[in-house]
Amino acid sequence: MTTMIAYRIHGFGGPEVFKAEKIEVPEPGANEVLVRVRAASANPVDLKTRAGQYPLVREDKLPYTLGRDFSGTVERVGDGVAQWHAGDDVYGFVGQGQGAYAEFVVVDASALARPPKTVDATTAGAVPLAALTAWQGLFDHGKLEAGGRVLIHAGSGGVGHFAVQFAKHKGAEVFATASGDGVEFVRALGADCVIDYHTQRFEDVARGMDLVFDLVGGDTQQRSWDVVATGGALISTLNEPSQTEASSRGARAARYTAQPDGRQLTEIQRLMDAGSVRVAIAERFAFDATADALERLAKGHVRGKIVVAMT
Ligand SMILES: NC(=O)c1ccc[n+]([C@@H]2O[C@H](COP(=O)([O-])OP(=O)(O)OC[C@H]3O[C@@H](n4cnc5c(N)ncnc54)[C@H](OP(=O)(O)O)[C@@H]3O)[C@@H](O)[C@H]2O)c1
Repeated sequence: MTTMIAYRIHGFGGPEVFKAEKIEVPEPGANEVLVRVRAASANPVDLKTRAGQYPLVREDKLPYTLGRDFSGTVERVGDGVAQWHAGDDVYGFVGQGQGAYAEFVVVDASALARPPKTVDATTAGAVPLAALTAWQGLFDHGKLEAGGRVLIHAGSGGVGHFAVQFAKHKGAEVFATASGDGVEFVRALGADCVIDYHTQRFEDVARGMDLVFDLVGGDTQQRSWDVVATGGALISTLNEPSQTEASSRGARAARYTAQPDGRQLTEIQRLMDAGSVRVAIAERFAFDATADALERLAKGHVRGKIVVAMT
């Protein structure tokens, strides 16, 4: 049996349930690819899953390997995979049931793409989940178009910092909320107007938004209805927005879960290689310090992404 190190949980809880262990290297099935992981990123979903607060991972899925996105190199491919070969560099977002905090991960062939050539493998590993979430929220669900006005809540985080850049690149007018040194960080990403949510009410600054992209939820989401234009949309990665509020404004409301998508990752790779979009790495951790990477994320106030590198 060939073994590898993977970071797993056998029960829900805090840092104490997250442990490195030796497990069997998974085999790629039909239309799947086995990837040797070079870097994986830290995402809030890892903390929520660990705590038992992520509805898609309940008790019967345990033990469970955490880590949802990565960069790496194809080790071998399963039946029916023609587009990937051993030695190819890839990056991707892992579907349910696999984990990227491991030396190897099995991924659907369609979830993979070539990583940006202009960044190293560690940096590329920070991109897929956050960038796809931003892309799908703005364009697939939010239908943001050139000239549209968008308010992005939490512009300084992993998802938000991509969303600000994608929306600017699209030609939208971008408002974003942030706090402290996050305000300057988001301004430097190209936002037209950055609102410090500690000192300003976003409702006093951003009005008539075609889209509110909500990465905060709760009261921030509820208050956001006051700034949505007639015919606009409120799209959230968190709690389900009120359909009653939406219909009273002739607006749309949706909550979504980001999905793996190799084709969208290829578009993101092109934007990065063209210099139109960059990923900000807040901190890097070694693989044997993966637990520390998660604790850093849990402390909050991250500007961009936290990434774990295998070497
Ligand atoms: N549904 C999905 O598929 C999906 C996918 C990805 C992410 N998500 C969720 O989306 C949220 C954002 O993810 P992420 O990866 O970007 O998280 P992150 O990297 O941890 O970033 C969170 C950011 O939010 C800022 N923030 C906190 N409170 C805020 C507020 N009231 N107004 C504006 N900004 C605020 C923080 O900065 P300061 O506190 O310093 O201001 C921080 O920069 C998380 O809850 C995550 O679970 C869902």
